[in-house]
Amino acid sequence: MAKIEISNLGRAFKKKGSATERFWALQDFNLSIEQGEFVTVVGPSGCGKSTLLDLLVGLTKPDEGGISIDGKRIQGPALDRGIVLQGYALFPWRTVRKNIEFGLEIKKVPKSERKDIIDHFIKLVDLIGFENHFPFELSGGMQQRVAIARALAYDPEVLLMDEPFAAVDAQTRETMQDEILSIWEKTGKTVVFVTHSIEEAVGLADRVAVMAKNPGRVKEVVNVNLPRPRRIADVRNTTDFSLISHRVWELLQDKEPLPLNVGGSTVDVGEAILADAAI
Ligand SMILES: Nc1ncnc2c1ncn2[C@@H]1O[C@H](COP(=O)(O)OP(=O)(O)OP(=O)(O)O)[C@@H](O)[C@H]1O
Ligand SMILES: [Mg+2]
Repeated sequence: MAKIEISNLGRAFKKKGSATERFWALQDFNLSIEQGEFVTVVGPSGCGKSTLLDLLVGLTKPDEGGISIDGKRIQGPALDRGIVLQGYALFPWRTVRKNIEFGLEIKKVPKSERKDIIDHFIKLVDLIGFENHFPFELSGGMQQRVAIARALAYDPEVLLMDEPFAAVDAQTRETMQDEILSIWEKTGKTVVFVTHSIEEAVGLADRVAVMAKNPGRVKEVVNVNLPRPRRIADVRNTTDFSLISHRVWELLQDKEPLPLNVGGSTVDVGEAILADAAI
């Protein structure tokens, strides 16, 4: 059985300015994700990525089809899923430490154990010295890192992340990517990770789900057969990485994919790299 089974998922919203008309933000969205798989999701702005994540979290309900985790329909948010959504959503009345502690409280982790766990994740996201700051006292990137620490601290089986590194600087982003890979390698979590960066999508994933819009759906799932354990810096200059990135880029551009066994020389990988900034 797949860990996460998304079948015929549909979500419709009211059309702005019309009392009755609706449009499908997602329709016929199908994807099976195995236990321990790292799946990234890319697609043009407005194709329904955040709508998908909201449904996976259980914040909203589908209008068609559904999502099961371990064979059970999602009924609402639960602690089997750790979430980092677009736009941090920290508790403004809680300090950094208290934000990270939140899931541990709900999970009833004994107080004596909490301190070490919180300290570990504060160090991991490089926020030593900011433990007692409130979110409004932090930069956007720092808030995002607190959200990541909070999601990881209570050790959920599934991690759902919506552009978690969008607001952090390039160097921190690379460190966080490595950390996510290393945590994932050690813990076998199942990850669904939305990003706008082709390099990040390919560098992290076992598979990249490329979406199309109107209505939002899976256009193609691209396998990433790059070696594990993996660090993006070690693979980003390889031919395989360039070819896979180029395939993802073509799908996003609505181009006919080239066969992947072209030997590297005829593929203009520069296009793929340039496109990274464009989606
Ligand atoms: N609560 C809502 N009410 C009405 N329309 C919505 C709502 N949430 C999303 N939409 C619409 O659904 C579509 C998909 O939005 P969504 O936020 O899922 O896109 P996205 O792929 O995450 O985009 P981005 O890459 O810009 O974050 C968009 O057309 C958006 O305007
Ligand atoms: Mg979004």
